[in-house]
Amino acid sequence: MAAFVTNCVSVIFMVSFVFTIIPCLVANTTITIDKDAHIADFDEFLQKRAEKALQSSLSAYNPHPEEVTDNFNKQVGDLLLGGNVTRRNLKKSDCMATNPIDRCWRCDPNWAKDRKKLARCARGFGRYTTGGMAGNYYVVTDPSDDDIQNPRPGTLRHAAIQEEPLWIIFERNMVIRLSEELLITSNKTIDGRGAEVHIAYGGGLTLQFVQNVIIHNIRIHHIYPGSGGMIRDSVFHIGLRTKSDGDGISIFGSNHIWIDHVSMSKCSDGLIDAIMASTAITISSCKFNNHNDVILLGASDGHSEDAIMQVTVAFNRFGKGLVQRMPRCRWGFFHIVNNDYAQWQMYAIGGSAHPTIISQGNRFKAAKNQFTKEVTKRDYAEESEWSKWQWRSEGDVFLNGAYFVESGAPLHETPFNGKNKLQFKPGSYAGRLTRYAGALKCKASQPC
Ligand SMILES: *[C@@H]1O[C@H](CO)[C@@H](O)[C@H](O)[C@H]1NC(C)=O
Ligand SMILES: *[C@@H]1O[C@H](CO)[C@@H](O)[C@H](O)[C@H]1NC(C)=O
Ligand SMILES: *[C@@H]1O[C@H](CO)[C@@H](O)[C@H](O)[C@H]1NC(C)=O
Repeated sequence: MAAFVTNCVSVIFMVSFVFTIIPCLVANTTITIDKDAHIADFDEFLQKRAEKALQSSLSAYNPHPEEVTDNFNKQVGDLLLGGNVTRRNLKKSDCMATNPIDRCWRCDPNWAKDRKKLARCARGFGRYTTGGMAGNYYVVTDPSDDDIQNPRPGTLRHAAIQEEPLWIIFERNMVIRLSEELLITSNKTIDGRGAEVHIAYGGGLTLQFVQNVIIHNIRIHHIYPGSGGMIRDSVFHIGLRTKSDGDGISIFGSNHIWIDHVSMSKCSDGLIDAIMASTAITISSCKFNNHNDVILLGASDGHSEDAIMQVTVAFNRFGKGLVQRMPRCRWGFFHIVNNDYAQWQMYAIGGSAHPTIISQGNRFKAAKNQFTKEVTKRDYAEESEWSKWQWRSEGDVFLNGAYFVESGAPLHETPFNGKNKLQFKPGSYAGRLTRYAGALKCKASQPC
């Protein structure tokens, strides 16, 4: 037992060092590679990748986030004013794309011939995410994952480690049980349309020090911690990793990430975690159920590099059986817009370390429990401190006694919203905007 403990401590010691990178934005210039990184050997290959990723994340940071939130709201407004989403005059077979992201691709019956059209459809902070658009298609034919050092061609792991951009699709329905976390490289799309793809009963997806990844239309559930070991994360590199946490999707030091129409439930740790100076992220039209810690954006109050974190959480359905963190935020700027929340068991939106939280046009339905009516939760701070954090609710709809405790400065009139400040769609539209959340069943030659 003693030997085990010593061994454990030495591993943590080995990976807990700090390196410094030239700052161009954040006053605090250190990136901590601690146990959250699950890297047992932070070798030269990974150091280079980490440095490049940080520079890329710093340049992905937008000093005018209101421009992005207002632009997003305007697109939702324009779509609804266009009248194309009313139910009147619609035949049963007609496709209704109820939000502007879906509108961009979903009703095209030829989606299977033009899958990369999706790459132009991201909105919000992740809007420039194009995934594997510049690359070839890679068809996953083999659901197995029995060689994590030299994965067989045809497997998802083989696709995910390639250097070049790839648009990864699936030959047929499959349940992929990953024997360890799947390390995905830059410039990839995982596109589950046309097949029912489950990532389940094994490791989850990890995006570490990468850029430009789309994860679309798959189901992720029952993800368990992996024991770690030597795992290939590039055709050029194998690295020693420590035990993984059992997150559904773990985003670490990465930028330009778009997660869309993914159904997630029952993972051991978080459903989605984005930490360590990750930014330019959109999480849209996903469906979350039956889980405790749903979305974590920023892992520690000490990680001030998360000040560049900018995330859009839009059109998602936070369904039955969820407890907390929808999302839980630190440091950065978070636009939580037009989501539908049903009956959280503790709280919906929480945070610490003075994040900016703009909640617009959500529908919050509290559970019967009289102690869980509050949407918001502030951790580790006295009111004298959190009262300065800007957490603002506009146009949200509150049902069953739900309420949002606002704080900080009112939203500014910006050059972008000006007179038309209330351009976002109120929470009464949230049901409509999230109607098709989660993984969709798509058949070739028919709208999804
Ligand atoms: C409705 O949608 C169709 C097809 O996407 C488009 O061509 C048309 O311009 C839209 N109409 C309005 C009023 O937005
Ligand atoms: C991703 O693709 C872009 C554009 O093709 C390229 O500039 C960039 O280097 C790629 N990123 C990586 C890490 O390969
Ligand atoms: C920088 O971050 C470290 C830990 O991440 C923290 O201990 C330190 O106080 C921070 N320094 C400043 C100037 O914010």
